[in-house]
Amino acid sequence: MSVSMMWPSAASTPASTLPVKAIPGSYGLPVLGPLKDRLDYFWFQGPETFFRSRMATHKSTVFRTNMPPTFPFFVGVDPRVVAVLDCTSFSALFDLSLVDKRNVLIGDYMPSLQFTGGTRVVVYLDPSEPQHSRAKSFCFDILKRSSRVWTSEFLRNSDALLDTIEKEVSEKGSSGLLVPLQRCIFGFLCKSITGADPSISKEIQDYGFAMLDKWLALQLLPTVKTGAIPQPLEELLLHSFPYPFFLVSGDYRKLYEFVEKEGAEVIELAKSEYGMNQEEAIHNILFVLGFNAFGGFSVFFPSLISAIGTDKSTGLQDRLRTEVRRVLDGGRRSISFETVREMELVRSTVYEVLRLSPPVPLQYGRARTDFELCSHESSFRVAKGELLCGYQPLVMRDPVVFKDPDAFLPDRFAEDKELLKYLFWSNGPETAEPTTGNKQCAAKDHVVATSCMLVAQIFNRFDTFECDDSGLSITKLQRAATATEEVRTGD
Ligand code: HEM
Repeated sequence: MSVSMMWPSAASTPASTLPVKAIPGSYGLPVLGPLKDRLDYFWFQGPETFFRSRMATHKSTVFRTNMPPTFPFFVGVDPRVVAVLDCTSFSALFDLSLVDKRNVLIGDYMPSLQFTGGTRVVVYLDPSEPQHSRAKSFCFDILKRSSRVWTSEFLRNSDALLDTIEKEVSEKGSSGLLVPLQRCIFGFLCKSITGADPSISKEIQDYGFAMLDKWLALQLLPTVKTGAIPQPLEELLLHSFPYPFFLVSGDYRKLYEFVEKEGAEVIELAKSEYGMNQEEAIHNILFVLGFNAFGGFSVFFPSLISAIGTDKSTGLQDRLRTEVRRVLDGGRRSISFETVREMELVRSTVYEVLRLSPPVPLQYGRARTDFELCSHESSFRVAKGELLCGYQPLVMRDPVVFKDPDAFLPDRFAEDKELLKYLFWSNGPETAEPTTGNKQCAAKDHVVATSCMLVAQIFNRFDTFECDDSGLSITKLQRAATATEEVRTGD
């Protein structure tokens, strides 16, 4: 019997004629191997060098390694993974006949279910589980219904954001972006997703975003390198144990009660159309709002702003501004899903930033069965139960697919649309559609369109802007030529 008859192969690759190799790498000695890898990942190397150096050592984009977190044995997290770091092997994670996505959103570790009121929310469900289809369809429905207000709420909140920044830059010389940006994201998503205006409650309006930040941080901290406190304190305090829910239970309760009181229409929809009970509905709504939507935009917008705002020499800002104003026809047309579709360079720039800085860097999937995993050059036997781990920032710089992979080339996707099938930020190819049968981001098209709207807002109003490398501080803004006032500092 041939190898390919015994071992199904990743659907993206024809039954392999590639040489079959043993997966290189090892997990090392118990306790010590995972500890060394954890210290490399968080401390001595950082995630990118961690994967790059192992790829170089093993001369392979597929290898075995440990992935943090590693907790004391009684927490029972298995750090052993098979890393997949090229576009072909990573694609196995989209083939749900090969991998199971149950409870592996951030690896073998899953935060306590108490963070979601005991409900296993959609991102932790595999499409083979009936609740997945129900919860994802509910999310599609929310997005469809929100289309009435999504654009207007985004424009209203991002206008307020730009007002704040402009004022601060003119008064103080620079403006921190984090707080006003998160307020903007929270305000527009809260209204669009739950139907509730956060200004109804002063506490939610002022601190809702910070409550979500805390709730997100406690779930994710054990898996993320923060650099917020010096080593070895970060290892000892942030990465050594899962955080208990009670640290944020008061804030979560306030958000829960806010949605319960003000989001009656969307809760009713969940109950009547999707068979959820009241509690399940609210926890699902809060998760989509807080984790998927608020978390995703809070990570991506600073990357987008920084990529454009630190580009001083290529003329990108001039070209973006020209395109935005041409499509908006001197103010005769407004920013919308339709108009940003005509902004080819804006869109291609957004795609390029999603490629270089994928907001959700790690994806996992557990082998459903023994199968043959293909990279560009070799094929490997993966055994049932093994956990595959893809690190997107390297996959999206696969030199076999992307020419000059480390360069920021804003025209890349406008010049070669074929490349979109290798753009994986949404947990699936950009050319595919999210469905109840896959695990692709339900709001894939909303994310791209909203990001284009942010760029259009900026260049409709300002000629140029500058920011620091993190994208979290604006240091210079220049009003559109039509405006007389010029707001600038630093020169
Ligand atoms: C920049 C913003 C966003 C980013 C970067 C993002 C990214 C992602 C990624 C990578 C996944 C797959 C997670 C995994 O299984 O590994 C995902 C799933 C999902 N996203 Fe998004 N997302 C964003 C915004 C949103 C928004 C605005 C919504 C809804 C309003 C949303 C709803 C969902 C849902 C429901 C899933 C689960 C899909 C499933 O389990 O089948 N996302 N998102």
